[in-house]
Amino acid sequence: MEDLSLRKLEHIKICLEKNVESEISNGFDDIILIHRVPNIDFEEIDTSIDFFGKKISAPIIISPITGGHKFSEKINKNLALAAKELNIPIAVGSQRIALINKESRKSFKIIREVSENLFVIANIGIAQLKEYSMDQIQELIDMIDANALYIHVNPLQEVLQKEGNKNFQDCLEKLDDIRKLNIPIIVKEVGTGFCREDAMIFEKKKIDAIDVAGLGGTNFAIVEYYRNKKEIFRDFFNWGIKTAISLIECLEFTNLKVIASGGIRNGVEVAKAMALGAYATGVALPLLKLAIHNHMDVVKYINGMIEQLKIAMFLTNSKRIDDLKKVDVIIKGFVKDWLEQRNIDIKKYSNRRLKRST
Ligand SMILES: Cc1cc2nc3c(=O)[nH]c(=O)nc-3n(C[C@H](O)[C@H](O)[C@H](O)COP(=O)(O)O)c2cc1C
Repeated sequence: MEDLSLRKLEHIKICLEKNVESEISNGFDDIILIHRVPNIDFEEIDTSIDFFGKKISAPIIISPITGGHKFSEKINKNLALAAKELNIPIAVGSQRIALINKESRKSFKIIREVSENLFVIANIGIAQLKEYSMDQIQELIDMIDANALYIHVNPLQEVLQKEGNKNFQDCLEKLDDIRKLNIPIIVKEVGTGFCREDAMIFEKKKIDAIDVAGLGGTNFAIVEYYRNKKEIFRDFFNWGIKTAISLIECLEFTNLKVIASGGIRNGVEVAKAMALGAYATGVALPLLKLAIHNHMDVVKYINGMIEQLKIAMFLTNSKRIDDLKKVDVIIKGFVKDWLEQRNIDIKKYSNRRLKRST
C-alpha cells in the first residue's frame, strides 16, 4: 500500500513542480463561435444545467485528482469547500488505495463530510474491475455516498508506469458487471481521449456517459517521464486524441452524454465545448495547484471561468446553456482535417441557424 500511496504523492509533486501539460493544444483553438449582436440582457444569463438530475450552477466539474494520503485529505477538503460554494460536482481520485488500506479512507470521506448536498463522483480504474468484486466497488461508492462512478481508462499511463497494470485483456467485458450497480457510470480517460470506435463499445455496454479527458492538458507520458527519466517516453508527449476532436467523435457516433475535459483552462473553452454538444466540462491541474493552498483561490479561478462563459454566451446571444447548443460553430485547421478524414460532416455545425429564423 505504501507504494501506491507514494506513487500518488510523486504524481502530485511532479504536477506541482514541472510543466506536465502537452505542448499542443486541446483543439478548441480550431473551434470558433460566430459572434452575434445580442438580443438579451447580460444580467439574465443563466449558466446552470441539470447534471444527472441535480441542478448545478455551471457546466464545470472538478475532475478526479487525489485521495489516499494525509496531503490528499487537505487538497480534497479545499476542493470540496470550493465545490460546495460554487454548487458544482466534484470527483475523487482513484479509490483503489481505500480497498487496500482502511486508514486512507479519511482522505476520501472528507469530501462528503464537507456537505451532504454535493454531487460527488467515485473513482476506480478499469484494470481494477478484474481485481475486485462488485461488492468492493459498491463499498467505494458507499464510502462517500457517491452520486455517480467514474471508471478511468488509462492505458498510456499504465504502460509507461513501472508499476503499471499492462494487462488490459477482458477489461471491457467487466463493464457488463459494473452496469448492474445502481448508479450512473461515466467512463473516463486521463489525458489521451477516446475515439468513436471505443465510444461505441461503451455505448453497447450501456454505460451512461463518457468523459473524454483528451489530449491538450495534463499528460501522463510527461509525468512518467519525470518519474522514470526514460528518454524513450518523450515521443509519447503528444500521443492521443485532442479533447475537441474526441468530444465530436463521441457525440457523432453515440447517444451518450459526453463530458469534455483535458486542457480546459477558461470559460471560452467551456462555451465552445457546450456549443459542440458537451454535457459538461471538467478541470484538474489548475485546481490542484490552487487547492494545495486554500479553497478561496479555487473558487476565484472557477468564478473567473464562469464569468468568461457568461461573456461568451452574451456574444453568441445565448441566454441559457441550451441556446449555446444552437450557435453556429466554425471548425478549422487540424480539427477540421481530422474530422473530414473520419467522414464527419462538419458543415452542419456552421449552418445550424439556417433552419431557424434567427
Ligand atoms: C495529480 C493528478 C492525479 C490524477 N489522478 C487521477 C485519478 O486518480 N483518476 C482519474 O480518473 N483521473 C486522474 N487524473 C486525471 C484528471 O482527472 C484529468 O483527466 C487530466 O488531468 C486532464 O485534465 P487537465 O488537463 O484539466 O488536468 C489526475 C490528474 C492529476 C493532475
